Amino acid sequence: MKIALLGYGKMGHVIERLAQAAGHEIVATRWLGGHSGVLNDADVAIEFSAPHAAVGHIKECFNARIPVVCGTTGWLEEFESVSKLCAEQHGTLLYASNFSIGVQLFFYLNERLASLMKDHPSYRPSIEEIHHIHKLDAPSGTAISLSQPILEFCSPEKWTLEEVQDSALLPIKARREGEVNGTHTVRYDSLIDAIEIKHEAHSREGFAFGALKAAEWIIGKTGVYSMKDVLNLT
Ligand SMILES: NC(=O)c1ccc[n+]([C@@H]2O[C@H](COP(=O)([O-])OP(=O)(O)OC[C@H]3O[C@@H](n4cnc5c(N)ncnc54)[C@H](OP(=O)(O)O)[C@@H]3O)[C@@H](O)[C@H]2O)c1
Repeated sequence: MKIALLGYGKMGHVIERLAQAAGHEIVATRWLGGHSGVLNDADVAIEFSAPHAAVGHIKECFNARIPVVCGTTGWLEEFESVSKLCAEQHGTLLYASNFSIGVQLFFYLNERLASLMKDHPSYRPSIEEIHHIHKLDAPSGTAISLSQPILEFCSPEKWTLEEVQDSALLPIKARREGEVNGTHTVRYDSLIDAIEIKHEAHSREGFAFGALKAAEWIIGKTGVYSMKDVLNLT
């Protein structure tokens, strides 16, 4: 597979290393200050840049008819309009707030747990996420994904970053510490007991491995996809 890396920071470098080890070729790279190679030479683009850059990169891939796998978080308010554009231009986009296969399984468990908890309103849900101090957005895209089934099934109507005691709000605590790769905890607390599920990323390789798997899967398809499609978790 010939890959363009749009964003060539911490994630871009790990993806490059794993891709080359698997026999793939990096034909183009982009970073804030420059680029190498030509996007049009790629079979697929993998986008891990910054919230302000992601949508521009995705649109460029639609125009160039190159499927794009995007892991950049913090631009989700534009997801609907980008999905519409993707359909209009017969483009190909796969977005995941978290490419780790372990996290995808964690999402699945979270959805099941939320559906069970809907009949037990005495438990108050909350989410905590911890990331390295360089992360630009808060809460993490993964925490927002985790909130969705909880908001759908349980009593909170929207998430908040504030620490409040209001059952209509789902508190998300976003902590920034050292070089933490990403820890997410979903907790249901009652006066009697608590239930907690937790995922802890030990390294960035899990995200890179999942993004490469998605890139292999998406070539030849059109439309908007998620990791659920890649892993058959739908
Ligand atoms: N979905 C997932 O599984 C997952 C996992 C980990 C991280 N992420 C997300 O992926 C993104 C990147 O993470 P990272 O750790 O690799 O960040 P990073 O180390 O800061 O790298 C970001 C890269 O994007 C480049 N960039 C910034 N603005 C750009 C622009 N306007 N045009 C082109 N390139 C631009 C930066 O260029 P310079 O090198 O010149 O600064 C850098 O190469 C973040 O949003 C992060 O939250 C997602």
